[in-house]
Amino acid sequence: MALVNEDVRSYLSGEVSTKQLLDAQAHVWNHIFAFIKSMSLKSAVELGIPDIIHKHGKPMTLPELIDALPFDKQKSQCVHRLMRILIHSQFFVKEREGYWLTPASHLLLTDAPLSVAPLALLINDQILTKPWHYMSEWLLNENHSSPWETAHGRTFWEQAEHEPRMSNLFNEAMSRDARLITRLLLKDCKHVFDGINSLVDVGGATGTTAKAIAEAFPHMKCTVLDLPYVVAGFEGTDKLGYVGGDMFETIPPADVVLLKWILHDWNDENCVKILKNCKEAIPKGGKVMIIDMIILEGGGGECDDKAMENQLFFDMAMMTYVDGKERSEKEWAKLFLEAGFTTYNITHAFGARSLIEVYH
Ligand SMILES: C[S@@+](CC[C@H](N)C(=O)[O-])C[C@H]1O[C@@H](n2cnc3c(N)ncnc32)[C@H](O)[C@@H]1O
Repeated sequence: MALVNEDVRSYLSGEVSTKQLLDAQAHVWNHIFAFIKSMSLKSAVELGIPDIIHKHGKPMTLPELIDALPFDKQKSQCVHRLMRILIHSQFFVKEREGYWLTPASHLLLTDAPLSVAPLALLINDQILTKPWHYMSEWLLNENHSSPWETAHGRTFWEQAEHEPRMSNLFNEAMSRDARLITRLLLKDCKHVFDGINSLVDVGGATGTTAKAIAEAFPHMKCTVLDLPYVVAGFEGTDKLGYVGGDMFETIPPADVVLLKWILHDWNDENCVKILKNCKEAIPKGGKVMIIDMIILEGGGGECDDKAMENQLFFDMAMMTYVDGKERSEKEWAKLFLEAGFTTYNITHAFGARSLIEVYH
């Protein structure tokens, strides 16, 4: 066998069979080249391939797809190869010699309200992929808070403030996610808003979540608190206000403080500071509503393999971008106790993420 050299032969003479060896190699290759899946997906989104096939209205042949793409027709074989790997990754299927969408690529349509196309573009953008090359350097160097800072020389939030392209990509990706989560929140967990007259969405970005909640509950006064450059230019109404500020300084008072995808951005010490400010902002009988992951220790159980792997991806991403982390229930409970809260209630409502209501 060509791949089995003398060194490997002696290794084989121990206990590893040829099949085990080749399986191990296939496993390593699969991980070495896994970024090609992400990058092929990114190219398909950039080229608008899901949109083109969707607009076509029926399975689209390769020549039809090539005709619809504004580039050199000599590249037709390359499009075939790009589509082949995307079919393998289950983003497209081939029906009667034509390409068609799968449930996953329906989520890549640009105008779909719940589209994850902006997230695919954000996460695979060069600004966000660069810090991954600095992880080992960062682990050896205590001075920076994250590989992001080692790579870019400033924090994620400082970079977003100074790079409008990144900030727009980020806000668009967050806003689409907020639509998806808010739709589920208002459909499956509407009762959690019973008796609530005011809500502040801390780190609420461009206000997608707060706007939807204000529309669903016309009696409720909603406020978005985010960094001044994020909310600059947003006009409030009597039902929805925008406040530029810093959650580490002060949080406007309300019956409920919502923290969606906020605490996983921060280390434990900073989370306790934020939670203490939340406690100051709510009255007795009020609550903090957290939407974030609860990481499963030891694997298995309630979470399938894909959801488990996604949690681990997010945890590594939080370490790499922002000195944050995904937390187990035990780790969450410790933060709540340290910040002075007494009880909490978990609803496993959003796939890899959950709703945690925290009371004092
Ligand atoms: C991961 S995003 C989540 C956005 C939104 N909650 C969502 O889930 O769609 C984190 C948000 O926190 C905001 N943020 C970061 N530092 C902040 C601070 N010190 N005070 C207030 N907001 C902050 C960011 O600008 C960003 O909008």
